[in-house]
Amino acid sequence: MAQRVRKAVLPVAGLGTRFLPATKVIPKEMIPVIDKPVVQYAIEEARAAGIEEFIFVSAEGKQAIPAHFSAQPNLERQLEEKGKTAELKLVRDAIIPPGKIHTVIQHNPLGLGHAVWCAKELVGNEPFAVILPDDMVLSDVPCLRQLIDAHAKVGGHVVAVEDVAKDQTNRYGILDVLSEEGRLAKAKGLVEKPAPDVAPSTLAIIGRYILDPIVFVELDKKLTGAGNEIQLTDALSRTLGAVPFHGYRFEGKRYDCGTRVGFVEANVAFGLAHPEMRDRLRPLVEALLKN
Ligand code: UTP
Repeated sequence: MAQRVRKAVLPVAGLGTRFLPATKVIPKEMIPVIDKPVVQYAIEEARAAGIEEFIFVSAEGKQAIPAHFSAQPNLERQLEEKGKTAELKLVRDAIIPPGKIHTVIQHNPLGLGHAVWCAKELVGNEPFAVILPDDMVLSDVPCLRQLIDAHAKVGGHVVAVEDVAKDQTNRYGILDVLSEEGRLAKAKGLVEKPAPDVAPSTLAIIGRYILDPIVFVELDKKLTGAGNEIQLTDALSRTLGAVPFHGYRFEGKRYDCGTRVGFVEANVAFGLAHPEMRDRLRPLVEALLKN
């Protein structure tokens, strides 16, 4: 039985250039889908999967993210005085208790591998989750829960994967698959952003990982790869002989909120899945498509 996963690392140090000017002052992760910032969905998914401690790898000027998960006494008092109990509950439900939320600053965005390395001291020597909030997943069982359950059986590294279109392989880390059993694909290799003609498969890693701390041994070397960045995929691939590596074909649908079209798609999809909105929203979406 693998060691329990208690901590999650959330790399949020990117500039969010694809969403300028919206991200001039507001961090990309604080832009809402329906009524919650994108990053809150990631935290709720992690909590539902049993994660207790959260490590944000952030950049200067993104204080809004930890502030969102802290108590806001003035706001809470005003809501209390006005008898707005439902709203007060929404505000308080988002709080992560002090001591369970940490922020480390990545001074230069040197790559996702470097961002994860920045959390090394706070993670210590135990398996941990990495969540990229840009990827939102609608599923019956939270995507991270699915990974943690798989990890409990096979240990090592377990990453969420899905098949992407052949012409999209150069946007993802791609698995070279050794064997498959049910939803698990055992990898014998990993390639970061391969061109479609050299990609070993179309099985792409999305923004959910359970990692063995051995990855820090490789990240310590600070080797750069594609785009001259310190790539997480490269570090993982160098640990292949030491720990098992599995892709897990999660149940659910992923929305890539890192792109504008994916962000609009996520708003519609989460709106159509929202119990208080779906009945009013559906006819509106249908009418839009008819015109
Ligand atoms: P992206 O490649 O989407 O970069 O990073 P970005 O800066 O957020 O967005 P654009 O491309 O400028 O629009 C994927 C994830 O990895 C994090 C980002 O914050 C995002 O969650 N990341 C990436 C870091 O935290 N540090 C890095 O050095 C690189």
